Amino acid sequence: MYRVDQTISSGSLQVDHNGRLRHFLTIDGLSRELLTEILDAAESFSGVTEQSVKKVPLLRGRTIVNLFFESSTRTRTTFELAAKRLSADVLNISARTSATSKGETLLDTLRNLEAMHCDMFVVRHPDSGAAHFIARHAAKDVSVINAGDGHHAHPTQAMLDMFTIRRVKGSFDNLTVAIVGDILHSRVARSQIQALNTLGVKQVRIVGPKTLLPSDVSQLNVETSHNLLDGIRDADVIIMLRLQRERMRGALLPSEHEYFQLYGLTEDKLAHAKSDVTVMHPGPINRGVEMDTQVADGPRSVILEQVTHGIAVRMAVMSMAMRAAGGNP
Ligand code: NCD
Repeated sequence: MYRVDQTISSGSLQVDHNGRLRHFLTIDGLSRELLTEILDAAESFSGVTEQSVKKVPLLRGRTIVNLFFESSTRTRTTFELAAKRLSADVLNISARTSATSKGETLLDTLRNLEAMHCDMFVVRHPDSGAAHFIARHAAKDVSVINAGDGHHAHPTQAMLDMFTIRRVKGSFDNLTVAIVGDILHSRVARSQIQALNTLGVKQVRIVGPKTLLPSDVSQLNVETSHNLLDGIRDADVIIMLRLQRERMRGALLPSEHEYFQLYGLTEDKLAHAKSDVTVMHPGPINRGVEMDTQVADGPRSVILEQVTHGIAVRMAVMSMAMRAAGGNP
């Protein structure tokens, strides 16, 4: 067994002595320059993903392992497409088929994949800190990308959201961004808040019932609201989040119907935000719980663009980390 909560702090773990990205585990502690470098690299890769031949040879001969101990559709498939578009070989290992389901430890799984000379691990795990644990124990030329660990972090999701916001709004400077829903259990919210503040938006608001907001927000640099209309008033961007039922202990909510009445986004409620407000959601959406179908499929929604941008952003992160791990200039 491994203990993950001793140190989730990444310190120098994810950046090398030249300031380059070695592993991508959390947004926490990364500079505005580095986040901007990821967004700029993703911008150039998004050209590649729109060509008819969608491949570049940057990671030819490298092997990337998608190590998923928790279910995923969007994240796993866009990581796989991103790796293939960089010409890497890709292995997909899921919890159901992996030897950890037969009792093998995470460390043994890692050692076996290293023995096969795999170069990068993309890790999703239900325990906070699992990706850090692997990064700390991996061979020195191996890179680890966190594809979501417990309720801790989901840095590539946050960066594809930042990419989408920059594409739509042009810059971050004057933006008010409201994040609505189950903030308490959301690794996405945590990473988004860090990214938005690092990139210098005007204000980040978190909106939701008391039971679904963290009790101590003093470290987060956010405004808090328990009222949806107050929380989205004059917002430029609204990010809706799924209720993370699988991470809730006990009854934190009355009913989904009541939640929708209070916090579900509808066209009527949207009128309180700016007229050019952008609506986002990392997926999977629960229609009729977080938002109604009119909003999800409406003109202000960029939910499917977020999915598309996930490929270019993951290409950027993987190529940057591999370059630093391989010691290339
Ligand atoms: C998110 C996740 O898995 O953390 N989804 C995703 O990566 N597309 C959010 C969620 O599950 O609600």
